[in-house]
Amino acid sequence: MAAPIWVWAFYVALTLFPSVLGNSEGDALYTLRRSLSDPDNVLQSWDPTLVNPCTWFHITCNQDNRVTRVDLGNSNLSGHLVQELGKLEHLQYLELYKNNIQGTIPTELGNLKSLISLDLYNNNISGTIPPSLGKLKSLVFLRLNDNRLTGPIPRELVGISSLKVVDVSNNDLCGTIPTSGPFEHIPLNKFLKHAPLKTMLLELFILLKVPDSDTHGYGDRLPMILQILTDLKYCSKLYSFEENPRLEGPELLGLASYDTNCS
Ligand SMILES: *[C@@H]1O[C@H](CO)[C@@H](O)[C@H](O)[C@H]1NC(C)=O
Ligand SMILES: *[C@@H]1O[C@H](CO)[C@@H](O)[C@H](O)[C@H]1NC(C)=O
Repeated sequence: MAAPIWVWAFYVALTLFPSVLGNSEGDALYTLRRSLSDPDNVLQSWDPTLVNPCTWFHITCNQDNRVTRVDLGNSNLSGHLVQELGKLEHLQYLELYKNNIQGTIPTELGNLKSLISLDLYNNNISGTIPPSLGKLKSLVFLRLNDNRLTGPIPRELVGISSLKVVDVSNNDLCGTIPTSGPFEHIPLNKFLKHAPLKTMLLELFILLKVPDSDTHGYGDRLPMILQILTDLKYCSKLYSFEENPRLEGPELLGLASYDTNCS
């Protein structure tokens, strides 16, 4: 006697569904593993024959066994990133900082629609910042500093209203710095210097310390004090663009296009 159809359906769902779903993420990560050189064997537990990657070291999943974190900062990895990373559609944290990763940032990282943090700082990454990163509408942290990136800061990034921390310092970027969207209200002249917060606090301290002798108050300095207080408010956003010799400073809206002599 044949088993009822629902038994077969259940069996097929149970055996096929988790592996189809789970392994596509495992396969993507295993492709990354094969593209990296791993002298310290931090990726040793990345076994592609397991039903999903959720038990692998340095990987975190949600309750549905979808990958939400890849934590491989400071792991002595070299090699290249792979476009397959773009398949991890529940990924929130991609932490690959302080390695020696080369090559370019895959355009496909723009498909990581849940991404909160993209930390690729302190590597040896070259090429341009893909404009596709403008599709990362949940992104809060974008740290690409200390690499060998070239080209402009893509204007597509101004559409990410959640951005709070942007560090692209120590690269070879060119063109101008955006001044709209999340880049609005950044006290840029100060952020181009070192230790901006310290500088601002010191300025404020000096301005507040000695009241004007003739007005017995802060008189003429009140606008400056208010400006510094406003700037400090936006210090909850930390943006750094320093050490990019070819970067020209903030763009002047309505004037010449930003990307002259910059590609
Ligand atoms: C990193 O890997 C190299 C081999 O490529 C090794 O010589 C070195 O000791 C490793 N560094 C650390 C901190 O593990
Ligand atoms: C960075 O990558 C380039 C090749 O793209 C290579 O020549 C160079 O040695 C690398 N730098 C380090 C510190 O590994």
